[in-house]
Amino acid sequence: MSMPPLSGRDLLSLSDLNTTELSDLLTFAAELKLGKHSPQFPQKVLGLLFRKASTRTRVSFSVAMYQLGGQVLDLHSGVTQVSRGEPTSDTARVLDRYLDVVAIRTFDQSEVQEFADYASMPVINALTDLEHPCQILADLLTIQEEFKSLHGLTLTYLGDGNNVAHSLLIGCALVGMNVHIAGPEGYAPDPAVVTQAQQLMQGDGKVLVTTDPEAAVKDAQVLYTDVWASMGQESEAGQRLPLFQPYQVNEALLAQASEDAIVLHCLPAHRGEEITHDTIEGAASRVWDQAENRMHAQKALLASVLS
Ligand code: CP
Ligand code: NVA
Repeated sequence: MSMPPLSGRDLLSLSDLNTTELSDLLTFAAELKLGKHSPQFPQKVLGLLFRKASTRTRVSFSVAMYQLGGQVLDLHSGVTQVSRGEPTSDTARVLDRYLDVVAIRTFDQSEVQEFADYASMPVINALTDLEHPCQILADLLTIQEEFKSLHGLTLTYLGDGNNVAHSLLIGCALVGMNVHIAGPEGYAPDPAVVTQAQQLMQGDGKVLVTTDPEAAVKDAQVLYTDVWASMGQESEAGQRLPLFQPYQVNEALLAQASEDAIVLHCLPAHRGEEITHDTIEGAASRVWDQAENRMHAQKALLASVLS
């Protein structure tokens, strides 16, 4: 297929894509992975403006951009005037004069929104407290590789109703996958995002939010988890441990899912907390393919917005 026509577009939320655009992006990413295309963007520069740590997102974006023939500037907030409080609106207008595309990792969604309001180049959300859309591009690519078609599958996410859960809700809805979220009371996803997913849901897919892990995993083809305390919530980690224990992805819970179920984790993982060593290293785990797919999915995204 040809490159999805996303020229100049932002990706602040996965809901910035419609169903066709998301499906086409996944197909294009799969073809890039197979080496069917080699789009080149020499002289184009990607800026990585990160306020939080990152291994996968930073490196996969960088390698993707190098493979596209472009350049990368690693602009962690500590080495820019961002750390001295320069307003986002000023930083955005200045960087817009130098860069061709920017990926931002920060806390507030409003910061990536404000940056996009002031910059004409494509702005990509590389994780905020609200969403992690690039992660879910790779997740859906991984699920598609396994099951060929996404529509009608069931993904169960166990744990905190966080950024990853939010983007999974939107992504699964857009491709017509049932999405179940199970976590302790008080840690459900933002109700506004749940409503948004229900409205975006294609076909007869269903959204289920529950505190019952066993009901949630029944018939699921994909079990997914993430850390119980995200970046910025480290001080709450200890008090969350006993609350989240029933939602641990382990062999006993996996046995209650569909026979062909696979296990995903966005990484980094805390073995013995949200997932056991045996399960992340077990036969159902696809976490390393999932991590690799960050690079292919983001290469497809970069090429499409730069084209
Ligand atoms: N999954 C993910 O976003 O990993 P990093 O925090 O290492 O980028
Ligand atoms: N929810 C996690 C994801 C890390 C990739 C966090 O925000 O820290």
